[in-house]
Amino acid sequence: MTSKEGKKAMNEFNKKTIKDIDVKEKRVLVRVDFNVPIQDGKVEDDTRIKAALPTIEYLLDKNAALILTSHLGRPKGKIDPALSLLPVAEYLDQLLDTKVTFVEDCLGDKPKKAVKDLEFGEVLLLENTRFHEGEKQNDPGMAKELAGLADLFVNDAFGTAHRSHASNVGVAQFLPAVAGFLLEKEIKYLGKTIKNPDHPFVSILGGAKVQGKIKVIRNLIEKVDKILIGGGIANTFFLAKGYQMGDSLVEEDVVGLAEELIKEAGDKLILPKDVVIADGFKNDAEKKTISVSDVPQGWQILDIGHETIKAYGEIIHKAKTVVWNGPMGVFEFQNFAAGTFRLAELLSESKATSIVGGGDSASAIRKAGLANQVTHISTGGGASLQMLQGEILPGLDALDNV
Ligand code: 3PG
Repeated sequence: MTSKEGKKAMNEFNKKTIKDIDVKEKRVLVRVDFNVPIQDGKVEDDTRIKAALPTIEYLLDKNAALILTSHLGRPKGKIDPALSLLPVAEYLDQLLDTKVTFVEDCLGDKPKKAVKDLEFGEVLLLENTRFHEGEKQNDPGMAKELAGLADLFVNDAFGTAHRSHASNVGVAQFLPAVAGFLLEKEIKYLGKTIKNPDHPFVSILGGAKVQGKIKVIRNLIEKVDKILIGGGIANTFFLAKGYQMGDSLVEEDVVGLAEELIKEAGDKLILPKDVVIADGFKNDAEKKTISVSDVPQGWQILDIGHETIKAYGEIIHKAKTVVWNGPMGVFEFQNFAAGTFRLAELLSESKATSIVGGGDSASAIRKAGLANQVTHISTGGGASLQMLQGEILPGLDALDNV
């Protein structure tokens, strides 16, 4: 068990936050999620960095000395220069009024020396925690060493909260451990919405993999009024209903489960009426819109059709709460992005409380330029999915209870 005080926390927010402890002139280890896209040494999307600023600025305002840690990508326990956090340190240095110093390792002598030289009101960003194998193994030695750098631990990495790693879970065993503002905000939004939504409550689920969404559907089925399905996951449901799917992506091994869910959910589960099919998995493939019962051999479904968008739009229009996770098609291909972007528009036009899970749906809503027109966009893809599945987030569970 990772929790200091038992697993009673679930995902309700009963954790101490930075407001509950004295951070003044303390050395504070802050786990952030700076796993951001970097291209040619430059930060491409700063959403997660900006989302961590309220916590960072609050702590600096209290004259704390900050030691920030994060992972970037999946370097498999080895140094990978392409996954260095240096560009993030440079970027953060521009955003903050105070100096941000990059430290080339998160373990060993370099961080120890940097912390010794660190003044209150200043910031260190340590190199990618996943350059060490101990991170993903939640190695107590690594956790203890990180904890040894500070007086307090703050977890603000919602995006990583579904992982049980040394820098977000292990470290909490060795220091007073509290939540930052971003973690608190995310848990409160998603937690409240799932537990106590205003009805009609509609969940829109898309994306490629049914596996990850089956638990979500199971957890939401009692709570929602409608579940609208799109994207690759719809294909497995169609297969379960006996339709031919041509070359479409399907997960044969979960067809049985999909069949059970269709029975359990009854008329709550809504599948697309029409789909856009392509004669290859590429943007310039030939395409046509057809009924789901007519997918020919050699063709594959890459988007939802107009009829479906219209039907989903009517349901969204009447909803009071909408949670969206996963795109409606292969929106990376411009020619198959209409379903996803139109759905983003419908969400932005609706008066419902609208929550967008992180990852692909968050990126779609940003690409559509509609990020300001929904209630909340989560900074966590896997983490928000895990919450929708009704599962405990280890990164939250490890923190001190109120
Ligand atoms: C994310 O981007 O979802 C988080 O940063 C976690 O990254 P991971 O899936 O590589 O653990």
